[in-house]
Amino acid sequence: MITLTNIGKTFPGTRRRPAVTALDDVSLTVERGQVMGVVGPSGSGKSTLARIVNLLERPTRGTVTVDGVELTALSAGQLNSARRGIGMIFQQFNLLDSRTALANVELPLELAGVGRAERRARATELLQRVGLGDKLGSHPAQLSGGQRQRVAIARALAPRPRVLLCDEATSALDPVSTASVLTLLRDLTDELDLTTVLITHEMDVVKRACDHVTLLEAGRVVDAGALSDVVRRPLSPLATRLLPHPQAPVGEPVVEVTVGGAGHDAVLTELIRRYDVQVAVVAGSVETLGDQRFGRLQLRLDGAPEQVRPALEFLAAADPGGRDPGSEDTHDLDDRALRALEEAVA
Ligand SMILES: Nc1ncnc2c1ncn2[C@@H]1O[C@H](COP(=O)(O)OP(=O)(O)OP(=O)(O)O)[C@@H](O)[C@H]1O
Ligand SMILES: [Mg+2]
Repeated sequence: MITLTNIGKTFPGTRRRPAVTALDDVSLTVERGQVMGVVGPSGSGKSTLARIVNLLERPTRGTVTVDGVELTALSAGQLNSARRGIGMIFQQFNLLDSRTALANVELPLELAGVGRAERRARATELLQRVGLGDKLGSHPAQLSGGQRQRVAIARALAPRPRVLLCDEATSALDPVSTASVLTLLRDLTDELDLTTVLITHEMDVVKRACDHVTLLEAGRVVDAGALSDVVRRPLSPLATRLLPHPQAPVGEPVVEVTVGGAGHDAVLTELIRRYDVQVAVVAGSVETLGDQRFGRLQLRLDGAPEQVRPALEFLAAADPGGRDPGSEDTHDLDDRALRALEEAVA
């Protein structure tokens, strides 16, 4: 688990350059087993944040706690051993060209004084796990970008860290390699019970691999939370980027509703079941976040005013947590509605 509390980081100025405040009062928590996406534009402080988690960069203010140990309170020697619990991967892989894949993965174990047989066994096992069992003897130049990043992941995991920091780990990869590396990172987090931070400038990375997200802008946290919660918050900047508001045709009187996700998937079904109204989907966005589908729909309700009014009130108040959990058939209808929408949107 990672806890950053009131982190500030100011790089001092020089005669030619003014001081830069890269992070300003940033607090965030990543629980074990979570994949936290940190997104934001270039220069917003993402890499500085990653480097502060393992104290490659010292914060000007605030505390960093990893797995219950306050890193900001440790001596240099203590910090070195604490850092072994934190693996890191980068956009440019940072592999040693002169070493084979196996020797690259062995390197951190060599530095930690692990014996030859043991480190060879561990490195082989990890390379097999990341799908490179047949590339142990290959040098980085003989590997694709996606394969190099897999070697880097195996190397980062060799000392059995509890935390994995990934700074733009897929930014140099093609879409297919990106997808498979993200799946690998998600699976490894679950298997090894890691605490993973994915730094990225791409919202798509967050949608695919993360369960939590923090949005940084100019060194400040402007939005944060679990993906499934954030997406339902109407005006939050992250909600809009995760699932855009659809554009209804001008002049159409519509009501917007967000559907999908655990416990929130039966709004349309309940609407139709409870009220005698015609429901037309005028516009919609659909998005898969992790393994859940969400839709932001603009609906037009037609019918007698005494039916339409309470139906609109129902939608406005829709606290989908309050739905009847006994209604089994409800998923189908909303699933069908979402599928129809996806076809319409595609
Ligand atoms: N060592 C440094 N000395 C001075 N300023 C720095 C240093 N490192 C980062 N900065 C400044 O801090 C700010 C945040 O930089 P950072 O690298 O964390 O951004 P980022 O969000 O990772 O950007 P990108 O998406 O381009 O990688 C920038 O204004 C940058 O110029
Ligand atoms: Mg960066």
